[in-house]
Amino acid sequence: MPDKRRIIVGITGASGTILGMRLLQLLQPIDDFETHLVLSPAAIRTLGIETGYSADEVRAAADEVHNFRDIGASVASGSFKSEGMIVAPCSVKTLSSVATCQSNDLISRAADVCLKERRRLVLLFRETPLHAGHISLMDQATRNGAIIMPAVIGLYYKPQSVDEIVDHLAGRALDLLGVDAGSVRRWSGEHGRNIGALDADD
Ligand SMILES: Cc1cc2nc3c(=O)[nH]c(=O)nc-3n(C[C@H](O)[C@H](O)[C@H](O)COP(=O)(O)O)c2cc1C
Repeated sequence: MPDKRRIIVGITGASGTILGMRLLQLLQPIDDFETHLVLSPAAIRTLGIETGYSADEVRAAADEVHNFRDIGASVASGSFKSEGMIVAPCSVKTLSSVATCQSNDLISRAADVCLKERRRLVLLFRETPLHAGHISLMDQATRNGAIIMPAVIGLYYKPQSVDEIVDHLAGRALDLLGVDAGSVRRWSGEHGRNIGALDADD
């Protein structure tokens, strides 16, 4: 067995590339985990447009980085043990590849491997509005075993900044892999007293 619990993070070219970076940052201080990153070329382009991070800064936040085209990388094999994979954000194109098992790049191959090995695969799908084809793909990916987690904001915890929204979404994605990185502001009832950053009197 590996010493550390491995989590694969795929970042694709949908809007919200900061989500993938935040996942890596949340996992970085937790000793138990080893992150494996795959960045698509479109993700690098979108990252440059919508964040202040360079691709190298994102790569530096991961323990291991794999080339998008290297379909022979460790994470492409089911014999490589991992806790699962999060694709954040997940584009329509990558959702389509996962739903139809195309495996023609390392993100969709590693994702398909997680599904065949019955490991967790969380897709933070980001597109709006949706046509029937997108909805069919979400249905097919769910039937294959993936968890579709649309990158939709919650307002119940009264986020004060984009950073808070990103922290919450990234933390909720990690929840699905059984990891509590401490970034989720948890609801404990409308009149709850022990509700983290929520103010019960508001
Ligand atoms: C600034 C920018 C924002 C984009 N936002 C989205 C998006 O939110 N959802 C989506 O499915 N594609 C989006 N795209 C298009 C994808 O990047 C494109 O379909 C790409 O081929 C996805 O490839 P990948 O899944 O391999 O990263 C965006 C592209 C750019 C440049």
